[in-house]
Amino acid sequence: MCKKYNVAVVGATGLIGGKFLETLEKRRFPINNFRAFASEKSAGKILRFNGSNYIVEKLDGNDFSGIDIAFFSAGKDVSLKYAPIFAETGALVIDNSSAFRGDEDVPLVIPEINAADVFKRKKNVIANPNCSTIIALVPLKKILEKYGVKSLVFSTYQAVSGSGMKGVSDLLLTRQGFSGKFYPYDISETVIPQIGEIVEDGYAEEELKMINETRKITGRNVKISATCARVPIENCHGVSVEVETETPIDVSTLAAEAEYSAARYKRIPTAYDANGKNEVYFGRIRKSGVFKNGFSYFAVGDNTLKGAALNAVQIAEYIIKNTR
Ligand code: A2P
Repeated sequence: MCKKYNVAVVGATGLIGGKFLETLEKRRFPINNFRAFASEKSAGKILRFNGSNYIVEKLDGNDFSGIDIAFFSAGKDVSLKYAPIFAETGALVIDNSSAFRGDEDVPLVIPEINAADVFKRKKNVIANPNCSTIIALVPLKKILEKYGVKSLVFSTYQAVSGSGMKGVSDLLLTRQGFSGKFYPYDISETVIPQIGEIVEDGYAEEELKMINETRKITGRNVKISATCARVPIENCHGVSVEVETETPIDVSTLAAEAEYSAARYKRIPTAYDANGKNEVYFGRIRKSGVFKNGFSYFAVGDNTLKGAALNAVQIAEYIIKNTR
């Protein structure tokens, strides 16, 4: 009989937490015991999962022994504080926050691209990449192997669900003419071309995440420029990607190569089409007007699923399948 695991979701009441529950249930993840954690204000609430009711627990002062796999999505500060405690107590932590993505002892994994990196972990923690990084890179698996990638230019079109419940409620409020509480501008009426604080050389946090994470995942010192923008869409991120390859490419074969790890959409891929889907869709493949050996494509994916919960669950599934 297949082994079952004691699983925890930290941030279970949040937008991505809910997607974790949905994904684990849909994929029939082999669960023995399940525990749901959130902030003190949610402790005692009931969550429905896999046909049973679970009481939401607080983290502070709790006993985490016996947990095999913990999916974290409660923000960076919670991960920094509690992921090491879970890991030391014996759980494999798969963390959706940015807390450990830059840590050399923590693999940063998109299963389609670098699944085997999970075995390089030194801390019992694996980091889930930023949603836009995942969506941009999934179509590149074969292209990285076959041609090598020298430079990348990313331009994102990121949905408000990437900001969690606060982002979604701002869009819904402002669409109805009420004032928003989270974004500095009325998100129903504009694109906001900055996500996070400006950190260095004019680059904002989200852009630096895409740059640094892409280098770690591909294991290459790729030259990268990124511009990340928030758009008035409820769910699903789009990314325009311009690629310079190391060797010459034949544009007519690229779609078939991208299809190795992503899904070709019958029409141009839009956020609407990707909503609720597991796949990253790509389209608009064409020769670059800038790079001699280069091309462009557009990728779109559900940032709450492949960009977050699904990717993390796929990491756990890969480890289960490949550990005996
Ligand atoms: P809560 O619902 O109790 O605030 P989102 O990004 O959609 O806002 O979700 C964030 C998730 O992280 C929620 O489940 C939230 O719980 C949880 N969370 C926030 N702060 C903490 C904390 N200090 N300890 C545990 N969970 C937290």
